[in-house]
Amino acid sequence: MAKPSARPAQPAAACRVCGGTVSAFLDLGRQPLSDAFRKPDETAQEFSFPLVVGNCRDCSMTQLLHEVPRERMFHAEYPYRSSGSTTMTAHFTAVAERFLAHELGGADPFIVEIGSNDGVMLRTVAAAGVRHLGVDPSSGVGLTAQHGGVRVRDDFFQESTARDIAATEGRADVIYAANTFCHIPYVDSIFAGIDALLRPDGIFVFEDPYIGDILDRRSFDQIYDEHFYFFSATSVRAMARNFGFELVDVERLEVHGGEVRYTLARPGRRRADARVAALLDAEAHRGLAGPEPYERFAREVYAIREDLRTLLTGLREQGVRVVGYGATAKSATVNNFCGIGPDLVETVYDTTPEKQGRLTPGTHIPVAPMAGFRADPAPYALLYAWNHETEILAKESAFREAGGRWIRYVPEVRVD
Ligand code: SAM
Ligand code: TMP
Ligand code: ZN
Repeated sequence: MAKPSARPAQPAAACRVCGGTVSAFLDLGRQPLSDAFRKPDETAQEFSFPLVVGNCRDCSMTQLLHEVPRERMFHAEYPYRSSGSTTMTAHFTAVAERFLAHELGGADPFIVEIGSNDGVMLRTVAAAGVRHLGVDPSSGVGLTAQHGGVRVRDDFFQESTARDIAATEGRADVIYAANTFCHIPYVDSIFAGIDALLRPDGIFVFEDPYIGDILDRRSFDQIYDEHFYFFSATSVRAMARNFGFELVDVERLEVHGGEVRYTLARPGRRRADARVAALLDAEAHRGLAGPEPYERFAREVYAIREDLRTLLTGLREQGVRVVGYGATAKSATVNNFCGIGPDLVETVYDTTPEKQGRLTPGTHIPVAPMAGFRADPAPYALLYAWNHETEILAKESAFREAGGRWIRYVPEVRVD
């Protein structure tokens, strides 16, 4: 476990968007791949990397200082299934319906999704008989999408992929990416691809965790290998301009602990919604371009670690059982930063078959099917999947009624 007072070992790096200077503000220590759930009999040393996050003094983009090679994270065995949450399934059905009613209402429309995963959004588009293509390098999730009637290209989206799609299928009215653009360090290639593939009046829409919400909710567990960028309206506008696009709309979303949906268009093609100026003003007002909010966040995160460890070690000393709820990618950061292994959390329950029977990355807590959470209830459950809290508390009301207590760690450590 890194020392609480540790300053980031690597204090600065070059910004992946503008080439400016990124100053580190939080060092979360060496971390494993957040989705590399380990087979119990595996003996090979786990890959690890230094998880350090910083902020660019020039364009204000928050980003990781170390890039994990993309093939290590996104491959045939990638376990995350977007449809594992009913809230997210409803969210993406609504997104598809909105595109179908507006941007895809013309003659022979075409939509491309970057990071289509198990087809959670595109299957509604496919069912409407509208031309579409998902691009996703994780072939396991891609197969699930194809079974649902979605066309998928098993590939990383980048300039060459986009040029090839434009040449064979024509240009797109909409290019969409949810919880994926923030995973991709090589934004220059992405924008060159968008430029090649998007119709002159088309839009590039993406939604990702919002840095403003991460700071407010102290959700440090949003920081892990796959989340390379943490966007704001300020940094996205600068990035878009850098690559010949304009930010024309922003929409706050409640999903995944607070996100923003950004809409980009070519300059002069769309009128910017007043929401863009409003969010830019709000960000300027709270000083998001300066170091102070990030430094305060880092101090708060160290305090959460102390409090969580004190609580869990206290329960262990009393012989009280604690289990985890949801083997999220986020939980890898919590477990490895706070030093939480099976001695403090005996099992993590999760609905994803690909994670069950395995061990959590780095600290090796067994992952078990959700049925065990109800069959063998522990008095305390650490809510790793806090971003799905409404959905989870509704279906697990019996846990609380039987005297079980939830432990939360964001925005602070709390038991209720
Ligand atoms: N869009 C879904 C959602 O919001 O639930 C999936 C999000 S999942 C966290 C990220 C997805 O992006 C994965 O399925 C991964 O394989 C894919 N991905 C990562 N890099 C990519 C790239 N360069 N091009 C296309 N997809 C990519
Ligand atoms: P996410 O936070 O990246 O969406 O991951 C959520 C994880 O939690 C995923 O592994 C599925 C799991 N999960 C459950 O086990 N039960 C649930 O009710 C929900 C909503 C998610
Ligand atoms: Zn920059």
